[in-house]
Amino acid sequence: MNNFDFYNPVKILFGEGKINQLASEIPQNSVILVTYGGGSIKSNGVYEQVMSSLSSFKVFEFGGIEPNPRYETLMKAVDIIKANNVNFLLAVGGGSVLDGTKFIAAAAKFKGEAWDILRKGAKIEEGLPLGTILTLPATGSEMNSGGVITIGTTKEKLVFGSSHLFPKFSILDPTVTYSLPKNQLANGIVDAFVHTTEQYLTYPSNSPIQDRYAESILKTLIEIAPQVLNSPDDYQARANFMWSCTMALNGLIGAGVPTDWATHMIGHELTAFFGLDHGVTLAIVLPSLLREMKDDKREKLLQYGKNVWGIETGTEDNRIDEAIIRTVSFFNSLGVKTKLSAHGINGSQLAPIFERFQARQWKLGERKNITPNRIEIILKSAL
Ligand code: NZQ
Ligand code: ZN
Repeated sequence: MNNFDFYNPVKILFGEGKINQLASEIPQNSVILVTYGGGSIKSNGVYEQVMSSLSSFKVFEFGGIEPNPRYETLMKAVDIIKANNVNFLLAVGGGSVLDGTKFIAAAAKFKGEAWDILRKGAKIEEGLPLGTILTLPATGSEMNSGGVITIGTTKEKLVFGSSHLFPKFSILDPTVTYSLPKNQLANGIVDAFVHTTEQYLTYPSNSPIQDRYAESILKTLIEIAPQVLNSPDDYQARANFMWSCTMALNGLIGAGVPTDWATHMIGHELTAFFGLDHGVTLAIVLPSLLREMKDDKREKLLQYGKNVWGIETGTEDNRIDEAIIRTVSFFNSLGVKTKLSAHGINGSQLAPIFERFQARQWKLGERKNITPNRIEIILKSAL
């Protein structure tokens, strides 16, 4: 196991009815900005629950944070904060609203041009305090300190993070997920699945606790996926789904082990250029990446095949191929397509993505050997 520091101060309030405890989690006399997305919280009753809980506070609102939140939109919230002395942010929504609100929290306190946080990786020294009410299990943003923001003008989707941006608390009520459409549920399952594989499908590091946690998240997602998709009000399935997603990206399974975030980094470009949903991009990139990096990941792919899919017979290569085929079938069973061509994208459209990676010269993966040339191979074989 590698050395690590693990720090996660987020208080989780989990279960049906927990939104009732909201007011007691926010310091008295706070001036609150409630942030949300395109309006789903207004049609499923969450907005009313939140607003009635906050009746004793001074509250401002900022709606309209779009999926894959944009820098340009978020900076408008910073103006509201400064004009009204807002001192607490409450994000109500999916990963986009939560990430957007973390960025707002950082930008409101940032000295200088806030987009340096994204474009130059400028250090975040402080952030406004924030809490979240999660409505879409997927990203883990509710229990981590990072986010992903798109700069609309340059079509760049960039990551940022700081320990100052951990939510003070996150409320996870599985019943608020009942209104989610099937494709968003499927995206969420894929996202949590891939967060887990990115911290597990690398090389052995003698970390059986982390490996078994990861395998339990993957097996749970596989097991509950049919109920999550087909039984809109199955509380237990939604509760286990929600907790799987949180556990997949709160730092626990990645502590002390090698990690490979290449699928996400490549996927972000597919969203930036083609507008594909985040989860959809991951289902396209992961199988292709596993095939290309099969030799580097050999031992863990065999372990994955055995412990997650029960594949124990055949040559090593056959078992690895079978594990990847099962992964693809799983994504397909959720209704998520795993080829670029299924989304009408052809090879010639990939050129700007290749140029971008060549210019950046990033070396991704647990061994830093997923070079721009290899990214081309991975994306071409995902056509
Ligand atoms: O905007 P509203 O009207 O709320 O509708 C949203 C949106 O259209 C809808 N939705 C959310 N909760 C709902 C609901 N509809 C009905 N009922 C509900 N209860 O779902 C749509 C998608 O929402 P979005 O927040 O964009 O989805 P998701 O949670 O998948 O977030 C994706 C974003 O998170 C980033 C992604 O890159 C992407 O920008 N990620 C953040 C991470 C992090 N902070 O750690 C890690 C992830 O890997 C990911 O990169
Ligand atoms: Zn993700």
